Amino acid sequence: MDADWWRQAVVYQIYPRSFADANGDGIGDLAGIISRIGYLEQLGVDAVWLSPFYPSALADGGYDVDDYRDVDPRIGTLEQFDALVAALHEAGIWLIVDIVPNHSSNRHRWFQEALASAPGSPARDRYIFRDGLGAGGSRPPSDWTSQFGGPAWTRVPDGQWYFHTFTVEQPELNWDNPEVRAEFLDTLRFWADRGVDGFRVDVAARLAKKFPEPMPSQAELSRIPSGPDSPVYDRDEVQSIYAEWRRVFNEYDPPRMAVAEVWVNSPERRARYARPESLGQAFNFDLLKADFDAEQFRRIVTSNLDQVKLSESSSTWVLSNHDVVRHATRYGLRPDGGRPGGRGDRWVNDGAPASQIDRGLGLRRARAATLVELALPGSAYLYQGEELGLGEVTGIPDEQRQDPKFWRTRDDERPSVGRDGCRVPLPWTRSGPSFGFGPDDSAAGPHLPQPDWFADCSVEAESGDPSSTLGMYRRALELRREMQGGETLEWDDGLSVGDVLAFSRPGGWLCVANFGDDPVPLPSGRVLVSSAPLIRPGTDGPARIPGACTVWLSIDAGR
Ligand code: GLC
Ligand code: CA
Repeated sequence: MDADWWRQAVVYQIYPRSFADANGDGIGDLAGIISRIGYLEQLGVDAVWLSPFYPSALADGGYDVDDYRDVDPRIGTLEQFDALVAALHEAGIWLIVDIVPNHSSNRHRWFQEALASAPGSPARDRYIFRDGLGAGGSRPPSDWTSQFGGPAWTRVPDGQWYFHTFTVEQPELNWDNPEVRAEFLDTLRFWADRGVDGFRVDVAARLAKKFPEPMPSQAELSRIPSGPDSPVYDRDEVQSIYAEWRRVFNEYDPPRMAVAEVWVNSPERRARYARPESLGQAFNFDLLKADFDAEQFRRIVTSNLDQVKLSESSSTWVLSNHDVVRHATRYGLRPDGGRPGGRGDRWVNDGAPASQIDRGLGLRRARAATLVELALPGSAYLYQGEELGLGEVTGIPDEQRQDPKFWRTRDDERPSVGRDGCRVPLPWTRSGPSFGFGPDDSAAGPHLPQPDWFADCSVEAESGDPSSTLGMYRRALELRREMQGGETLEWDDGLSVGDVLAFSRPGGWLCVANFGDDPVPLPSGRVLVSSAPLIRPGTDGPARIPGACTVWLSIDAGR
């Protein structure tokens, strides 16, 4: 088997609770995924990444794990998981699962044991407990804040405090504790033995921590760059954890792959996670953070292709995932609309009011950006629903929101609307009470409400139409399989002028993207796919690429 399968794989991220609901309880499940493998096969993806499906109280969409070696009974059983692995493999699709090592849930047996045990006990040492400051330790050990709003320390009845970067329900594990380390090695083996081909490592840069005494303030902490001097992010010691993991991965044939979720900007630091003796691959979120802009895209592509030389890995490309506003919406925010109601970062889910989103423009640009992404060397990570051109669902009623980021930032100066808008259950059919997400006679509706416009973005509506977004993804993935060669590209500087970006891949595959508003001439070659209809003025005039459009051409005479 090909040990390098992941290097240029198209990986499709499934957020299991929102993909397909087989038993009609309103929550997506493993049986639902199994029933849709034909769809994934037809789409032409190489691998599936499953976001957490473990038992969880869903304080953070499943990233609060009660038991790392089981399936949430609302989602399925271990037997169904085995059936899913077998069915995916049968279809030639690899499987990556999410592993969440930075924190467990507060319902995990270890945390329950820690609560029931005395301060200083071995059970407490698996987590990060500290005494508080001031009289009776009534003040938290530091004023640090959680990423989802509110304090990062929570007090337990006997007076000690535990640390959590995310919600109160996500106590942080102590990775200096040998038992924690051993437990995760066994968990990795548990899933690898069941046939899992790889792991997506959640908040991979946070595991190693060293809190100075006295603790810096939040203001001081924010000024310390990530890396060896940071108490919490991207410390050097984290690599010794992944060196151990790598030895486990390499016990298997083919070796299990892993991809680090790291938000470090320095190429050298990111490369440490992507090296073969570490996790082997790391997410690059640069395109996801960029504007729809030729110059930014070129700079990012160039620098990332240089960066992977530092790690010997392949580059990753991401435009959307379960944590950010879908790219079809990001690209449709009107420039004058700015970043309404948000926390400053437009790419984090800030929930622009629908009035400030130009859906047509957003989708057009999203399709163009996707064809650039899929033409790049390396691995592309797609998020469920982007192949339908889904935009962010705005206007979910407050009482139906689930994301802790929404609930915990209510009183902040700049509250977040949270990430529910990209996690709404997929539309499979044009009609029906849940657009085919669940059976029409389901006992419960989808766990997040679907808007009416989902009808036109449903799989049923798009399936038979080659010009639909789904049609474009299918065609592009089919072509990519045929054309994907070496991991290089060559910029075409003759064509890359102004708002146009053009590059070729080995084998005569040319990608030309027009990021501007005005049409540009279509270069010669055979058109393979384009993200929008080309402008063909009669029989004799030259064809042109309209604004916000990408086209792939075959420039190899033999093809
Ligand atoms: C990662 C996940 C995100 C989750 C957080 C805490 O960033 O992608 O969804 O909330 O980790 O586990
Ligand atoms: Ca279900």
